Amino acid sequence: MCGIVGYIGPKPCVPVIMEGLARLEYRGYDSAGIAVAGGGHALQLRRAPGKLRNLDAILREDPVHGTYGIGHTRWATHGRPTEENAHPHRDGTGTLVVVHNGIVENYLQLKNALIAKGHKFASETDTEIIAHVIQDELELAVASTRTDAALKGTGFSPSINAAQKAGALASEAIDGSDESQTVLTAPPSLSLEEAVRRAVKRLTGAFAIGVLSAHEPDKLVAARMGPPAVLGIGEGEYFLASDVPGILHHTRTIYFLQDGEVATLTTQGIELTDFAGQARTLTPQRITWDPIQAEKAGYKHFMLKEINEQPRAVRDTTLGRVSLETGKVFLPDMKISPAEFRAATGITIAACGTSWHAGLAGKFMIERLARLPVDVDYASEYRYRDPIPSPTDIGLLITQSGETADTIAAQHELIAKGSKTLAICNVVGAAVTRLAQGTITTNAGPEIGVASTKAFTAQLTALFTFALYLAQVRGTVDDTTSLHLVTELSRVPGKIEEILRSVDDQCHELAKHFSTARDFLFLGRGIHYPIALEGALKLKEISYIHAEGYPAGEMKHGPNALIDETLPVVCIATKDPSDPSSVLKYEKTLSNIQEVTARSGRVIAIAIEGDEHIGQLVEHVIHIPQSHELLLPILEVVPLQLLAYHIAVRRGCDVDQPRNLAKSVTVE
Ligand code: F6R
Repeated sequence: MCGIVGYIGPKPCVPVIMEGLARLEYRGYDSAGIAVAGGGHALQLRRAPGKLRNLDAILREDPVHGTYGIGHTRWATHGRPTEENAHPHRDGTGTLVVVHNGIVENYLQLKNALIAKGHKFASETDTEIIAHVIQDELELAVASTRTDAALKGTGFSPSINAAQKAGALASEAIDGSDESQTVLTAPPSLSLEEAVRRAVKRLTGAFAIGVLSAHEPDKLVAARMGPPAVLGIGEGEYFLASDVPGILHHTRTIYFLQDGEVATLTTQGIELTDFAGQARTLTPQRITWDPIQAEKAGYKHFMLKEINEQPRAVRDTTLGRVSLETGKVFLPDMKISPAEFRAATGITIAACGTSWHAGLAGKFMIERLARLPVDVDYASEYRYRDPIPSPTDIGLLITQSGETADTIAAQHELIAKGSKTLAICNVVGAAVTRLAQGTITTNAGPEIGVASTKAFTAQLTALFTFALYLAQVRGTVDDTTSLHLVTELSRVPGKIEEILRSVDDQCHELAKHFSTARDFLFLGRGIHYPIALEGALKLKEISYIHAEGYPAGEMKHGPNALIDETLPVVCIATKDPSDPSSVLKYEKTLSNIQEVTARSGRVIAIAIEGDEHIGQLVEHVIHIPQSHELLLPILEVVPLQLLAYHIAVRRGCDVDQPRNLAKSVTVE
């Protein structure tokens, strides 16, 4: 996530940028920073850990001034939420600053190559690498100009001298920066936008960036590949933002920067090119949303926005962690060695609520792929049963917020009993990650809706990735299987997109039939049972309808007594046709469905595309694309989220802030 705001024009830019950042703070709030120049002022930089108000306090004590600049609110993906890791980041000369939203996948590779060239880095972030790669392009251009000049026996060209003049400001380190590390021995012979174009071609991953250089005053360069970036066109002033609300108070004339485009903003206007430098036409549009709608990107609720963000959340959780060529999994933030994973005798998962459901599904993934026994505990119960983990067991805490008191208490218990702990967490630097020996960050971005949606699918993705990593380290999967699994994983975001397109209207219709029900049952078998639990939790927390999740095979042991013609029963009846155990499970679930219909229960089935048979047995079928058995849960939950959402909206409930609940539960 992260929020970016940039401005160039006649006004003092600091209030414009700070106000825009405040409107984008929902995109990230673990640190913030600003870099500004112009109106006779050199490039100045201020950054602060924590919320935007901390940056505001610093600016009040130590103000900066200018007529153009960039600002950033951070949602950490690489590196803790400290001042050093806050954006804007500088290059090695201290004359160029970058803000970034996204993840640079090949950052380690680039970093090592740049270190070998003498670059020094001040932060743990992938963003700093972008500044250094741009610097590298500028240096490469200077070097090649020098060689040309030497060959011709002449000095630097006039354009270089012009750039040198402009760069006079730059030789003083940026106000607010540490000592610059290396100094560009000659001024750039390349325009900033050309250096950016060359640099972005070296990056893989996802990025929306804003760049300023002290060598080129009155210019702001932006580029996009993946995360959103918008340009705003005002009266003699131009804006950059990662989302419309950041600039909507200043202009409604917006251009959505496209993937593969670079924009150069000056006081004269905006020039647009592709990464190869070919001119593109900028065709702005008028935005008619009100500011609140804009924060929700036009969606009625944050929850709906977050449901729709799941393709990106899942994709970003795998970025840089899996190789589509070899099937190998890489987990960099891991201080537990492969030898320790090989020697592990078991995994204890502790989590609460939705995260606990992810843990239940994770048990199937880890046991099946890595052949390691897994216990899943409610974090709130763990320490009360005086657990006896062996010293070779590994504790795995799953938490969106990383601040849930019950989960932290379970982690303390695990540590006290001698276990090493890992965290799957959506917030870099959160309490749980500070205690853990390794973290897999779910790059879902901030989740505002109290009911967890995108964090859950990102947790399932992280668990699948972790299970495969463990399996590779422990030698329980071969290379062909790994490659197949990674390929299947890479198809999941596209399949979620398909579900979002195809089932939303159907869930809306179903809500009309079922929003007055008093109770709901959700059934599933095996890895699909945790998804039944999650479907029930989503419904009860936002619509206040009583709902229960049950293992489909357990119905005959009691709950069948509840079934009558008023009871909607949601049955997860998917299968992976290439997996005999999945097909067997599916067939048993069909029998359970028939037990429900025989008692006049009203069944809504979740089935895979092409399963026409099930339609003859039940009243309603929601079809989802086929996938590997262990990945089906990520797809199955999406229609359940939408069903709960539409029912809650129909009942007039406060979807984003349901009664009696809080987003992060910091009491036991
Ligand atoms: C339900 C929900 C909660 C959380 C639970 C744990 O939609 O969001 O059940 O999953 O409170 O929170 P985290 O994951 O932050 O530890």
